[in-house]
Amino acid sequence: MAETENITILGIETSCDETSAAVLVNGKDLKSHIISSQIETHRKYGGVVPEIASREHCLHIKDVVEQALVQAEVDFSDLSAIAVTYGPGLVGSLLVGLAAAKAMAYAAGIPLLGINHLEGHVYANFLEHPDLQFPILSLLVSGGHTNLILFKGHLDYEVLGKTRDDAAGEAFDKVARALGLGYPGGPYIQKAAASGDAKAFNLPRVMLEPQSLDFSFSGLKTAVLNILNTAKMKGENVAKNDLAASFQEAVVDVLVAKTKKALQRLPQVKTLALAGGVAANSLLRDTLAEELKNCGIRLVYPSIELCTDNGAMIAMAGYYHYLNKNYASWKLNAVPGLNL
Ligand code: KG4
Ligand code: ZN
Repeated sequence: MAETENITILGIETSCDETSAAVLVNGKDLKSHIISSQIETHRKYGGVVPEIASREHCLHIKDVVEQALVQAEVDFSDLSAIAVTYGPGLVGSLLVGLAAAKAMAYAAGIPLLGINHLEGHVYANFLEHPDLQFPILSLLVSGGHTNLILFKGHLDYEVLGKTRDDAAGEAFDKVARALGLGYPGGPYIQKAAASGDAKAFNLPRVMLEPQSLDFSFSGLKTAVLNILNTAKMKGENVAKNDLAASFQEAVVDVLVAKTKKALQRLPQVKTLALAGGVAANSLLRDTLAEELKNCGIRLVYPSIELCTDNGAMIAMAGYYHYLNKNYASWKLNAVPGLNL
């Protein structure tokens, strides 16, 4: 590769309910970023319907990729590689992106890069903060995962803690559903909580064993459901905004406490990077900012649009896989339960 040659990566993400593609040049210039969201389609069912999601990806993938290339003013001959999410996620949804990426990479004669969606979420931080210094602790909080991850260098990481039951975002979604709020639950809980009293309900903060960096949110979710069921049986009304605020604060308290515990154990870490859909939560962002104010720790998080699923983060992770020549085989398959 000549020194002046641009590394142009097309990133494709279809793991759940967003069809997204982005073009990233040299790991820093995001030339285009297109997201086609299926939220409205799934809203009437109160959650993502996997078969409908796959069919929607089939309908939109071609247009989304074309728009990304047109907006970036590149064509296939300018691309260095195509990066695509191959897991974790919904198998049918993943297969659509994977099949499209394989076909395009094969036809263009360029490498295919298989990207772990969770890795992508963390790499979203490098899009807006290219100067991040390792080691980095990442709190990854999405609809399916809750992890504390130590990044020692690019693509060199160790999972320090994970959820033993529900993910943080899953708890937000299930509680929102029980409260009769909308889907996806996180933004609705946040909105309802804004006019609620977080001290109104005394909800559990499950910390597990003193040394553990794992999480557990199912007990908290059950506590909220019990409050709602008891009130229903007694014919009483529950102040939904108060319950939303109390729930949100309980989740944030646990996330912040575990993150601080990890940071105390890792004095060499000076950067905390939030990632995943729940990283959009303003109470989480604000509480961490306040707690870390005088600790010499830099807190970063992606902008709201880059917290939730998107192709730009896949292109960003893809850039480092490309530099490492981690090319995927043409037999790359979808791995719905892929771990970090
Ligand atoms: O990362 P993401 O888009 O998809 C997965 O990989 O799972 O995360 C989606 C999750 C959903 O559970 C959604 O309720 C949650 O992120 N979320 C939020 C907020 N915005 C999205 N949770 C709390 N507060 C928010 N503002
Ligand atoms: Zn995600």
